[in-house]
Amino acid sequence: MPHRLLAHAADLARAPSAHNTQPWLLTRDGAELVLGYDPARALPIADPTRRDLLLGLGAFVEVAMIVAAEQGYAIAFEPGVDHEAHTAGRFVAATAPPQRAHAAADVQARRSSRTNYEPEPVPADALAATELAVMGDGLRIEVLPAPSVVELLADGDRHAWADLPTTLELKAWLRLTRSDPRYEEDGLSYEALAMSKAEAVALRAMLARGVWPWLRRIGGPALLASFSTPVIKRPGSVLVLVGDPSSPEATLTAGSGLLRSWLELHRHGCHTHPLSQVIDAPDSNRRLHERLGLDPVAAWNQTGERALAIFRAGRSAQPVRSSRLEPGRFLPDT
Ligand SMILES: Cc1cc2nc3c(=O)[nH]c(=O)nc-3n(C[C@H](O)[C@H](O)[C@H](O)COP(=O)(O)O)c2cc1C
Repeated sequence: MPHRLLAHAADLARAPSAHNTQPWLLTRDGAELVLGYDPARALPIADPTRRDLLLGLGAFVEVAMIVAAEQGYAIAFEPGVDHEAHTAGRFVAATAPPQRAHAAADVQARRSSRTNYEPEPVPADALAATELAVMGDGLRIEVLPAPSVVELLADGDRHAWADLPTTLELKAWLRLTRSDPRYEEDGLSYEALAMSKAEAVALRAMLARGVWPWLRRIGGPALLASFSTPVIKRPGSVLVLVGDPSSPEATLTAGSGLLRSWLELHRHGCHTHPLSQVIDAPDSNRRLHERLGLDPVAAWNQTGERALAIFRAGRSAQPVRSSRLEPGRFLPDT
């Protein structure tokens, strides 16, 4: 029965993942389907705790459950994360189809938007529905005014750009020219990043081998950080997904909730723009948790209630759709 999911690869492929690495792999094990990941598509430098990897895999599971619910497939997912074997759990037969509020059409329509947002908070009805969408899994949503996050974002960005290994890892997933052979496959296209062609050319030149190590020392990180903050300077909302996952499996489950929140916002006409660098950098992480009234030390040590994801949300122009690998690339051979 879980095998029936394989006919819906085009929907499964639309799951979101950090840097659009699309790490998921499906293999057969008898009647079951094992969800694994390609370690070459994890982000060991930017995501050492594997938080984003597990959130993305959880989002993939959520898409699978949406498909199963829509098609009436009696399928469940049993999480079981094994980083030695690069597996995250398995799709198994269940007695009844799962129930989901969203449809595959919602999955196809959702996209991250990094353009300017209208200067309004997320409407109250959208927020209430989003809070409801994550509640079951012990998650909740906190709302911050977008301008109050400007300094945190700048700090997170500066920290990321100042670290050479982080920049090199990101660079491997940037698709800054259409002539990149992987432009239509994976990673972050300059168009999906809402950059103009000229901006992409400039960033490419800055990150060129032999240039960036030098620029990095003379203010390159601050300069690049200054480009990302205008998008949240205008009034609007930044949403934080807060939870206390005490195991990799619980973090994966939170990824399903994260996607539900994005789908719910999209259904209400709102786009989302994740700002994970705020969580990843120690200073911005501490200030974020202080602002949320949560213990910053515990949060940095991955215990207690903490921010699992942070994203700008609101109405924006329609963004360019991100690329995906051929769905066959993550399916079992036979
Ligand atoms: C766990 C997670 C973390 C992410 N972090 C960021 C981020 O920090 N900045 C960003 O611009 N996009 C971030 N994204 C968005 C992905 O880049 C995006 O989902 C991917 O490129 C696919 O595009 P789509 O969301 O439009 O389908 C994140 C996505 C996930 C699932």
